[in-house]
Amino acid sequence: MWGGLGLVHQASRLPLRSPLTFAPSLLPPRTCWRNTVTANFAAAAAAAGGAPVAAMVLKWEDVEIGEPKEGEIRVKNKAIGINFIDVYYRKGVYPTTLPFIPGREAVGVVTAVGPGLTGRKIGDVVAYAGDPMGSYAEEQILPANVVVPVPPSIDPVVAAAIMLKGMTAQFLLRRCFKVERGHTILVHAAAGGVGSLLCQWANALGATVIGTVSSEEKAAQATEDGCHHAIIYTKEDFVSRVEEITSGKGVNVVYDSVGKDTFKGSLKCLANRGYMVSFGQSSGLPDPVPLSDLAPKSLFLTRPSLFHYNATRDELLESAGEVFANLASGFLRVRVNHTYPLSEAAKAHADLEDRKTSGSIVLIPEENI
Ligand SMILES: NC(=O)c1ccc[n+]([C@@H]2O[C@H](COP(=O)([O-])OP(=O)(O)OC[C@H]3O[C@@H](n4cnc5c(N)ncnc54)[C@H](OP(=O)(O)O)[C@@H]3O)[C@@H](O)[C@H]2O)c1
Repeated sequence: MWGGLGLVHQASRLPLRSPLTFAPSLLPPRTCWRNTVTANFAAAAAAAGGAPVAAMVLKWEDVEIGEPKEGEIRVKNKAIGINFIDVYYRKGVYPTTLPFIPGREAVGVVTAVGPGLTGRKIGDVVAYAGDPMGSYAEEQILPANVVVPVPPSIDPVVAAAIMLKGMTAQFLLRRCFKVERGHTILVHAAAGGVGSLLCQWANALGATVIGTVSSEEKAAQATEDGCHHAIIYTKEDFVSRVEEITSGKGVNVVYDSVGKDTFKGSLKCLANRGYMVSFGQSSGLPDPVPLSDLAPKSLFLTRPSLFHYNATRDELLESAGEVFANLASGFLRVRVNHTYPLSEAAKAHADLEDRKTSGSIVLIPEENI
């Protein structure tokens, strides 16, 4: 399903900049309990080197979330974006303290504001992507300065499907390596959540887009998204196909989110002075690369993170503003291909890890279904 088409033809630039100020308040503290999905003891086993952890370790339970303090807001989530980073945390690839509530992206309605906070009010529809972790929840506390307002023309489910993935596409294509007309690029997992947006955006920038996918269905989707050459890397050798497509010249940049299975081949696909952008590892961490592997073609190698490219509030507003504006203008379309009730997050993780999904995955709290 395409998200939000036909709903979003207004507003090219968004009024995202709203000042946040704080003043003391005498409001008494209250307690709030909400259902959340937590990841706990089995994830600890994985972090300690135990057996691989199944998605079933996610538990649906009540967790006390409390009241917003100074500088914070409480948000009742309408839609929660699932991202592959949630899997890394659940499996212990990225360490964290246990138990924890996964999730780094959500859209919801402000239900309470911390003492003295101005610039946000109850009823505002806001989105966030990044820190803090904890969005697999019906309601959560957030620092007010991490959220951005969602334009009324954009459906909350659509916003939750694009916020993190769209800002990732934005920094990868526009800031990490600047894609321009005439460039040829390689995008792995081209039918995935980020991959779908990379294909659309890079095509619109005038690049020739080569994409890899695991099936015919995913190839058809990537092609529809503007991928000029879809390679089924489970059947074809993507390195020789790229060589063929580029007549031996190679590509200017590889956006590699697959990691272990593709990394070395990706280096081979690059042209002289090409950029290897390794931004994820859905198949596992790539093996270490000797610096000398970059020498034969004077290659650049980076391992970037959205969090470092959206390090300031100005960067966040710029990046989110560009994504929402591109969505509103129809320049970008987000594929909300899978929705699950929030309490079934474990099933969503299993499907994502089994490569059964394409486009974006969104969790919907039960009361919004
Ligand atoms: N660095 C950053 O700041 C940043 C930010 C956001 C996302 N990311 C990364 O971007 C990538 C995409 O994220 P996403 O949330 O949009 O996920 P996604 O691309 O929708 O899902 C992952 C895809 O990876 C492919 N894949 C290849 N080998 C796989 C394997 N062994 N196991 C599972 N999947 C495999 C599958 O596509 P095929 O079936 O077509 O192979 C799968 O659908 C992830 O690696 C994520 O960590 C990085």
